[in-house]
Parts: sequence; structure tokens; C-alpha cells
Amino acid sequence: MTLKKIFLILITIIGSHQTNAQKFDDLAQTPPMGWNSWNKFACDINEDLIKAAADNMVSSGMKDAGYEYIVIDDCWHGERDENGFIHADKEKFPSGMKALVDYVHSKGLKFGIYSDAGTETCGGEPGSRGHEYQDAITYARWGVDYLKYDWCNTGKQNAEASYITMRDALYDAGRPVLFAICEWGDNQPWEWAQDIGHMWRTTGDIYPCWDCEEDHGNWSSWGVLRILDMQDGLRKYAGPGHWNDPDMMEVGNGMTVSEDRAHFTMWAMLAAPLIAGNDLGNMREETVNILTNKEVIAIDQDTLGVQGFKYSSEDGLETWFKPLAGGNWAVTFLNRADTDHEINFNWKDHEIKDPDFDYAANFKAVTYNIRDLWKHKNLKTTEKSFKSIVPPHDVITLKLSRK
Ligand code: GLA
Repeated sequence: MTLKKIFLILITIIGSHQTNAQKFDDLAQTPPMGWNSWNKFACDINEDLIKAAADNMVSSGMKDAGYEYIVIDDCWHGERDENGFIHADKEKFPSGMKALVDYVHSKGLKFGIYSDAGTETCGGEPGSRGHEYQDAITYARWGVDYLKYDWCNTGKQNAEASYITMRDALYDAGRPVLFAICEWGDNQPWEWAQDIGHMWRTTGDIYPCWDCEEDHGNWSSWGVLRILDMQDGLRKYAGPGHWNDPDMMEVGNGMTVSEDRAHFTMWAMLAAPLIAGNDLGNMREETVNILTNKEVIAIDQDTLGVQGFKYSSEDGLETWFKPLAGGNWAVTFLNRADTDHEINFNWKDHEIKDPDFDYAANFKAVTYNIRDLWKHKNLKTTEKSFKSIVPPHDVITLKLSRK
């Protein structure tokens, strides 16, 4: 071997070592599930509240149903010390972040934290800009398992480059961390973030209403249907390990039970991360029943990892299909309107073709058993028409299983 060749091989090895940072694989083969403090509590958080959320996630049955992460959002921060290391707010978190993480872990749950790619978070706390590697090391020392990384106060920063910097910092710190990109879809992360994050927000913030825009002056937050409509065209970018995130849920935060049920179901049809955003210590029975419906959760968590698509839309009634593993399907009839909607769906009149992937259902050739996932009841098969009534702002959700 010539000296030149040896030199080239050495350069290649060194070069590849410098660039081998990547996202942690295998962390989100199905959409992440958990709870986040922001939607209900915003900046009004402290260590007792987070501990109680962990306790209640277990006692409510949510952990059993698959919820895993307790994520603390904005406003946990104290100041950076003289060496630039970030600390938790001493008044809100007198025991320190490590103790809180240990507590959450002791419940068999995982811990998520929040930061921002810019100089300050959206709540005006210290951002990670210029401290990415230092913050990643701090999170690893605390035992953090999940990082939501926001996009306020980023000036002229490039989004893709900024998220790569934090991804690499997390990887180098060595502790597997699920990386949740939150730049509200402004820079089309679905086009570049597949190898950077495990999920990416597709929209601005959600608001607990069915179909409204909440005007905050120079930005808006959006009701459930508005967010749902903004997902159009994005399903082809998502899959195991990299999910579209239509934002944390507002189930239990003031909408009607029907609206909460429809919201939860559509997030499952979208294979969205299921991150609850309500007060877990103060839930109506209906809220618990929605959040822990294991049959609907199984649609979200289906191993195929393919989002549903809108098959038809007529007079405020939308029909959605989601391909599932084993050649099965989930079907949801969503009534967006303010009045009842009758359904008479003759399966054999419809041929279902996935618009983005190679899945199809031909009801003339294959018969499916039908199960109602909210009534928890087996119905007849796809041999006969499905007839029912969908109440306003509600859903009927069926699983079709090959006979
Ligand atoms: C942004 C995010 C929200 C929340 C707040 C915190 O608005 O989109 O989800 O994290 O910041 O300030």
C-alpha cells in the first residue's frame, strides 16, 4: 500500500468519526405517548405538580394503556452558572431536576424536558443557542429521555442546521434521547427532519376548541378541525421513527365529550404522538375513558406506522381509512357538522386505494369482520351495508379485520 493510500484511509476514518453523530434509532417505532405540562399549566409549574402528574399517570391507568413520557415544558429554568451550565428554578424545583427525574423513573416512566434553539425560549427563559453541547450533557447527567426543542428567538438561524446541531449534541452526550422538533411547520421539517428528529410539529399551537382560530395578536392558535385540515399532504413523510406531530392533545381541557372523543380518534387515525395536555389529577370519568381506550390507542400504535387518509367528504361528514398491519383497516366517520349525520355505507360500492402507499381494500373480493372501537362491540361483516347515525362533532370508529 502506498503512503498516499494509507493517508487517504486515515483521513476517511477520522472524517467519518467526526460526522457519525446521528439521531438515536429505535426510540419511536410507534408514535410516542405521554403527558406534557404546557396546554393546561403553561408556566405555572413546580416539582410537586410534575410528581403528581407521574403519580396520576400510573393511578389513572394511563401508564397501563401505553403512556410513557412525563414532559416538562417551558419555564422550568433558573439561570446559567458562571460556567454556562443551566440549572432549574430553585423556588419551583427546590430538590433539583435530577431528583425529579429520578422520581419519574421510579414510577416506571420516562422524563422529557424542553428547550429552544434560539437565545431565549418562547417564555423568555434561557435558550440553548451557543450552549447546545453543554445542555445536552446536563440533560444526560439528569437522566432526561426526551427533548422538545422549540424555535422562538432564533433570528437568522437556519432551522435544519440548528436541529442538526442539537441532534449531534444529544448523540455525543451518549444518553438515548427522543428528539421532538417544534418549529411549527414553518420550515417544512417533513422534508428534511427524518434523520434529525423522531417527531416534528406540523402546525402552530393547538387550542381547546372544535373549529376556531384564537388570535394572540401576531400569532394564532388553532382548534382541532383547523389543525386536522393542516395535515393535508403530509402523511407520506411520516413512518416508524419519524412522525408528524399535530401538537399535544386538548382532551379534558374544556371541549365537549364528543369533541374530545373525535379529537383523540383523529390523532390516532393520523398516527400522531399521543401527548395528553390536561390535569391528570382532576379528570372526569369520560376523559379517562377516552384517553385510555386501548382499542383506539392500538390504531395509533399499529406497527405498520401509516397515517390514515381522508377517503371522502360530504355535507360535513368525512370518511377516513387507515391501513393497519396484517391487511386490516381502521375506518372513522367524522361528523364535523352541528347536526346528526346518517350513514349508509355499502362497502361493496367502494374500492379503497391508499393515495400515497401501496395499500388497497377491495370489499368485493375480501370480507372483513367489523368491530366498533368506542362501543367495544363486534358488529356484522362488510358483506352488508353499515348503517348508523353519527352525532354532531363526534365519530364512529371501526376496525375491519380480514376474515
Ligand atoms: C411554543 C410551543 C408550545 C409551548 C410554548 C412554550 O408556543 O409551540 O407548544 O412549548 O412555546 O412557551
